Amino acid sequence: MAVATDRRATVVPVRVWRSTVGKKTAMAVSGLMMLLYLVLHMLGNLKVFFGPEDMNGYAHWLRTIGEPVLHHEWFLWIMRPLLLAAVIVHGVAAYQLSRRDIAARPVGYVHRRRPVSYATRTMRWGGIILALFVVWHVLDLTTGTVNPDFRSGEPYHNIVETFSTWYGNAIYIVAMLAVGLHIRHGFRSAALTLGAGGSAARDRALRVTSDALALVLTAGFLSVPIGVMTGLVD
Ligand code: HEM
Repeated sequence: MAVATDRRATVVPVRVWRSTVGKKTAMAVSGLMMLLYLVLHMLGNLKVFFGPEDMNGYAHWLRTIGEPVLHHEWFLWIMRPLLLAAVIVHGVAAYQLSRRDIAARPVGYVHRRRPVSYATRTMRWGGIILALFVVWHVLDLTTGTVNPDFRSGEPYHNIVETFSTWYGNAIYIVAMLAVGLHIRHGFRSAALTLGAGGSAARDRALRVTSDALALVLTAGFLSVPIGVMTGLVD
């Protein structure tokens, strides 16, 4: 009886979060939010090919969105906690789902462990690499802490500085490849979780869409370090 009362007393969002399907849905929705951000971010980065005025002007414009209703930079400060919440929900759900997966494996009873699939392993390592990359990236191009010569309000200059070092190129190229692999598998998983699959034709369309998204995002992001390395952007 006490158990039944406790169960009723637990609010719906908490019950949903505790369930495996709830965690998968939370991962899908938070992943799609981050994907939308990445598409916009990648397109914004291409401004670098139009020169310092365009790129720096674009960064300035981002800080004025919503004015005069919003104060300077408020839009950015509204987006930051939302994005951070998506990262945390995504990471925590991924960690908890992998703990459940390990706990559900019949170790001891059956001697051979069910192997972790290539895709699952890539997603776990890719996720960790991306989380570490985002910390480096913020220290590099937002706060400037690790940038060789950071100038506030001049992302064009800061980007050129980043990609003028071998380690800057190495870190970003590895991260961009991780982004591509993560999206290639993650987008399809998210779409299946949210019910977009169901037939061979739909599954094929999902595969093509996730491959295309991964390719376009990776190529778009990679074009910036390649642009600096080849002297197209300097
Ligand atoms: C070549 C690739 C990339 C370049 C050149 C680049 C460039 C930049 C620049 C210049 C900023 C600062 C913008 C400003 O303050 O106006 C920024 C911010 C940011 N970037 Fe990237 N980015 C790249 C890839 C990525 C990737 C792959 C991710 C995520 C996985 C990412 C996530 C972020 C985030 C979250 C911020 C906002 C930090 C904040 O709160 O200010 N970026 N990026």
